[in-house]
Amino acid sequence: MNNKLAIIGGSGLTELQGLEVVKQQTIETPYGSCPITYGIYNDQEIVFLARHGAKHTIAPHKINYRANIWGLKEIGIQNIIAVAAVGSINPTLQVSDLVIPHQIIDYTYSREHTFFDQEIVTHIDFTEPYCENLRQKLLVATEAHAKAVYAVTQGPRLETAAEIDRLEKDGADIVGMTGMPEAALARELELCYACCAVIANEAAGRGKAEITMAEIETNLINGIAKFQTLLSNFIKMND
Ligand code: HPA
Repeated sequence: MNNKLAIIGGSGLTELQGLEVVKQQTIETPYGSCPITYGIYNDQEIVFLARHGAKHTIAPHKINYRANIWGLKEIGIQNIIAVAAVGSINPTLQVSDLVIPHQIIDYTYSREHTFFDQEIVTHIDFTEPYCENLRQKLLVATEAHAKAVYAVTQGPRLETAAEIDRLEKDGADIVGMTGMPEAALARELELCYACCAVIANEAAGRGKAEITMAEIETNLINGIAKFQTLLSNFIKMND
């Protein structure tokens, strides 16, 4: 089986519609277990991993990012498309839009964030946090915003309006909770990793009303449908 492409699904994508499941397996890693699904999507073998668990029970700060990335590496994955629900700070990014970020600012804390904390210390280059080759392929596959700075917050609560103002001043366009340490761990293991962010809501203080889970879920349904088109096109193009 060709295990080269993995999709990491986030909120709104605990299950990939249209994926013909071949096998489910838990990979044991030095960091814990990594639950993966092997399947066929548009005649192509891919691997799917639900970051928040099959029932969406794992909060962003509790995700075992190290086990997930290690497990994908162990089964021979080379490319990862990570799907992430985010709020929009930049008003040109509208709900249900797809965004392929090019930069990250990490505001998370106390997460296990490296494989390189034992024996030999290694400092990876992270100037460009995403795999540019994969980013460009995603952009050819569908209509999506081509650049965005992704601010990664700790969660699970949403931000205050003042925090969003601060993130905007810092240069962020979108805000989410799962972009890190996932991207850095993928780089540590030399995996090609890009993110497809789906705008779930306007960030705190930017919309007219309070942010509700119901609103987020509805917007994600539309956004995830767009991601499915992206993935189908991407697979056809890279057959
Ligand atoms: N903030 C942080 N994470 C998010 C948001 C948000 O507004 N929406 C979806 N994930």
